[in-house]
Amino acid sequence: MSTLTLDSIREIAVIGAGQMGNGIVHVFAQSGYKVTMIDIAATALEKAVATITKNLDRQVAKGTIDEAAKQATLANISTSTDLAAAVAGADLVVEAATENIDLKLKIFKDLDSAAPQHCILATNTSSISITRIAAATTRPQQVIGMHFMNPVPIMKLVEIIDGYATDKHISGIIVALSRKLNKVPCVVNDYPGFIANRILMPMINEAIISLNEGVAGVEEIDTIMKLGMAHPMGPLQLADFIGLDTCLSILKVLHDGLGNPKYAPSPLLINMVQAGKLGVKSGEGFYTYTAGSKELVVSSNFKK
Ligand SMILES: NC(=O)c1ccc[n+]([C@@H]2O[C@H](COP(=O)([O-])OP(=O)(O)OC[C@H]3O[C@@H](n4cnc5c(N)ncnc54)[C@H](O)[C@@H]3O)[C@@H](O)[C@H]2O)c1
Repeated sequence: MSTLTLDSIREIAVIGAGQMGNGIVHVFAQSGYKVTMIDIAATALEKAVATITKNLDRQVAKGTIDEAAKQATLANISTSTDLAAAVAGADLVVEAATENIDLKLKIFKDLDSAAPQHCILATNTSSISITRIAAATTRPQQVIGMHFMNPVPIMKLVEIIDGYATDKHISGIIVALSRKLNKVPCVVNDYPGFIANRILMPMINEAIISLNEGVAGVEEIDTIMKLGMAHPMGPLQLADFIGLDTCLSILKVLHDGLGNPKYAPSPLLINMVQAGKLGVKSGEGFYTYTAGSKELVVSSNFKK
């Protein structure tokens, strides 16, 4: 059994400097951890540091942190494009690279050779099997899902996923660590979509199926779910925010993994992804997004 404790976790490495990676780096650095942010693209690292700085400025403006805390947070962050060198002293690695199984298997194989033996290897995957990722390493008992929600600095939940071989002691450390980050951890077992996406994605898919069948328009569907169910945003807007490509890939994992036709992705979702309409990140999904504007405009494809 591992002798690692919560207090022995000091150095963190985060792989991937995209929308999730920069948020994960932000919360660890703000909680006093030294964090190395790793990406294959130097430009992604520069952009991520700029985003973290902007988000910290917003916290200072709101009065939730002071300027000294902002500077201390930034001083805890370093960046690297060299994975092997950057994880050599890590006690915990959190992988938040692109959602692609082959990519993640390769990263975990590399991590297994480059990270110290005691190091815990966590993944922020939305849907890929933790057990499968763990099997790419020689330390499956130290591999775990640490599923942060977007935007990471704001959302309280961390869905912690125990793989088939994950050691309960390791799981307990990640629970305690999540609390230290001022988050609320919930531990679940490793089955397709875990809990968050197994429940969320069928709702989003049903909203898209209803739209495609002409039951109601984009605004009506979102308004009904916002005002009727007290959801902070409607399912179609949420799909745009998550990324329609990400929604499609999670639905495919649910469909393949659980073998139930109820998870089959809507043909409209498939079409939109094929057409490059990915939501906020591509500028258009169910809504059209204009830089600097917060007004929601239904995409012309869906005007009644
Ligand atoms: N977007 C969400 O709402 C959300 C929520 C929870 C979990 N996730 C999961 O988090 C992970 C990251 O998602 P994202 O939305 O931040 O993606 P993203 O596309 O914004 O960022 C991915 C980053 O990974 C980098 N990358 C790719 N290959 C790499 C490699 N070999 N080494 C280092 N970096 C590499 C890319 O350059 C990019 O900067 C995925 O597994 C996703 O499923 C996403």
